Amino acid sequence: MIITGKTKILTIIGARPQIIKAAALSRAIKNNFQKEILEVIVHTGQHYDENMSKVFFDELQIPHPDYNLNVGSGEHGKQTASMIVGIEEILLKEKPNCIVLYGDTNSTLAGAIAASKILVPIIHIEAGLRSFNKSMPEEINRIMCDHVSTLLFSPTRTGYNNLLKEGFIENNPPPYTFNNPKVYHSGDVMYDNSLYFSTLAEQKTTILNDNNLQESKFILATIHRNNNTDEPERLNAIFNVLNKIATEHKTKIVLPIHPRTSKLLHKNLSGELYKTIKTNEYIKIIPPVSFLEMIALEKNATMIITDSGGVQKEAYFFKKPCIILRSETEWIELVNCGAARIGDADETKILEAFNYFLTAEDLKFNDLFGDGKAAEFICGEILKYIN
Ligand code: UD1
Ligand code: UDP
Repeated sequence: MIITGKTKILTIIGARPQIIKAAALSRAIKNNFQKEILEVIVHTGQHYDENMSKVFFDELQIPHPDYNLNVGSGEHGKQTASMIVGIEEILLKEKPNCIVLYGDTNSTLAGAIAASKILVPIIHIEAGLRSFNKSMPEEINRIMCDHVSTLLFSPTRTGYNNLLKEGFIENNPPPYTFNNPKVYHSGDVMYDNSLYFSTLAEQKTTILNDNNLQESKFILATIHRNNNTDEPERLNAIFNVLNKIATEHKTKIVLPIHPRTSKLLHKNLSGELYKTIKTNEYIKIIPPVSFLEMIALEKNATMIITDSGGVQKEAYFFKKPCIILRSETEWIELVNCGAARIGDADETKILEAFNYFLTAEDLKFNDLFGDGKAAEFICGEILKYIN
């Protein structure tokens, strides 16, 4: 630990879920480590719409970024490369003790490449998760980031075990470097956030009233994975089954739409299905909502249908059954304990899961994601080992 002065951490955020995750660490620093840790926040600008970025800073009391690289959207290579250039410049100028990276986006990968090449220790939060499907850009990003990290914080036991299988070792003595990394099963900072903001969400939002939604009478859906939005066959299959569920069960489905999906809906849905979806009184497509609004929706929905990593878990945190619109999940515990089912983009599987959850009783939601204090734990470990 640094005796004089603070440990300077440089946090990289870029995509919506990273801004939300970073709120937990910033809050822990503000409440418990102000004297020891100085945080510099760099926003890559991967997400930039007001409702994909700014709304979260305002609502979650996250310090505004010290830097914004404004890289915007683009092909993987171009987007990641612009981020690497920008992050490297800032690292050289700020000379932090370490860089903190979240999850598995292109912003994560860019931070990992920039920092590892100039020997800045990497702290990876959400390490060890694997879908074992390398056609997902996120799987490449997370594997590469893990393997150049110094402290790896896995939110789940499965993630921790994945790291051991990839050659990381337990109980190795310090000093820790990327040649001698330390792995942790730390709990999930998203769980910290969900607990922290849960009560506030219902007090401070009007999203249910605004959309005429009544408790336990609607389904919440989100779709944004690139293979779902970009492959017309999958996108049509998913919306076809959502349309069926909404119409046959006269149940509202509310879908805060990711900009990626919004831009591809018209292009990739058949003309007829597009019209049906847009005119179905039970399907409510709304712009992306704030985190507090999202929590209010999650807490009050009967069921959640999603391809989002974060939303799958939040379904579990709020004890809601979840249908996962992917062929696999990194959060396999949710499926193993019976609270979530894999629906893929397959009408039969999705309907089977839907019908099962309609009547399922005694679903189990054991504590799998820590004690709500993962961020404090992570800060403490950074202070112990990074200087
Ligand atoms: C990214 C992450 C994904 C994560 C998701 C969270 C990568 C490779 N993917 O996917 O892991 O689950 O964020 O939401 O990093 N767009 C806008 N406005 C914005 C942001 C995006 O219109 O503020 C549109 C653009 O057309 C852009 C598209 O969405 O091309 C995709 O954005 P991008 O950040 O490349 O990937 P996501 O699908 O958001
Ligand atoms: N989220 C939000 N508003 C929305 C949709 C999602 O605040 O309209 C939150 C959600 O509660 C979760 C995070 O964004 O905390 C998940 O982000 P996303 O689904 O974009 O990405 P993923 O988790 O799949 O990487």
